[in-house]
Amino acid sequence: MDRKIFNQLRTIIYQTSGIALSEKKENLVASRIGKRMRALGIHTHKEYLEMVKSNETGEEITEMLDAISTNVTSFFREPNHFQFVETVFKEWLDQGQKTFRFWSAASSTGEEPYTLAMVIREAMADHKVDIKILGTDINTKVLQACRNGVYKEDKMRSVPQVLRDRYADYRMIDGVYCYVIKPELKQLISFCRLNLSKPPFPMSGPFDIVFCRNVMIYFDDEVRKRLLDEIYRLIKPGGYLLVGHAESLTGMLSGFKSVKPSVYIKN
Ligand SMILES: C[S@@+](CC[C@H](N)C(=O)[O-])C[C@H]1O[C@@H](n2cnc3c(N)ncnc32)[C@H](O)[C@@H]1O
Repeated sequence: MDRKIFNQLRTIIYQTSGIALSEKKENLVASRIGKRMRALGIHTHKEYLEMVKSNETGEEITEMLDAISTNVTSFFREPNHFQFVETVFKEWLDQGQKTFRFWSAASSTGEEPYTLAMVIREAMADHKVDIKILGTDINTKVLQACRNGVYKEDKMRSVPQVLRDRYADYRMIDGVYCYVIKPELKQLISFCRLNLSKPPFPMSGPFDIVFCRNVMIYFDDEVRKRLLDEIYRLIKPGGYLLVGHAESLTGMLSGFKSVKPSVYIKN
């Protein structure tokens, strides 16, 4: 890809999503955009750039961000976060709390919010409580996967069999064995598109726990700080923020106090 075209594309990507692509990502961008170009029947990167720039509705930018974003995720990823959630949720239940709000801020294809839903559903037992989980992402394709709630058998391997049996139906779809998340679990979660680089967000909160894991690695410090300030505003005092274990947010978490690695509390 021509360097000038790459630079223009990455500026548009940064300005619209906060995703900061280094110069080394040229091949990655070329290959991910290449698929979109083939779908459109466009043969040169220059033509594609012109199309992105001239598309007034912004639809092609949405398509480009769908193609660019990295959506790696899994059920029970970083499992000690879910053990932590179970513990604090049970404490809050014992204290008589009845309403709970959780947010999976970069839900990708849904494994994170569905894991959370299973953990909460198991921990609440017979308590009559009001649970709502919000799952958001910038990528429209992964949001559709969230709403479908259909996972190939191998994706569900990290889910204990007892939970798979309780919260999913095992079916053959298009010749492949899949798990289909049951409506009783799905109904705990709403999914919607949200761009984390553009606060303020329309939700009123307050959230008890926010998962913002493995997405800030794609942002620079300016975008991260803006996002963390907004998450701080939306979390209740005594609520928790969970970030990816590999993320270093030193000096950016004004107001949050570290509880243990990758877990922060709002004082
Ligand atoms: C690597 S996945 C992480 C998924 C999950 N949180 C986890 O830890 O397994 C990163 C997700 O962030 C989303 N993302 C990237 N930029 C975003 C933005 N500006 N706003 C919202 N989501 C974004 C991507 O679409 C992708 O689904």
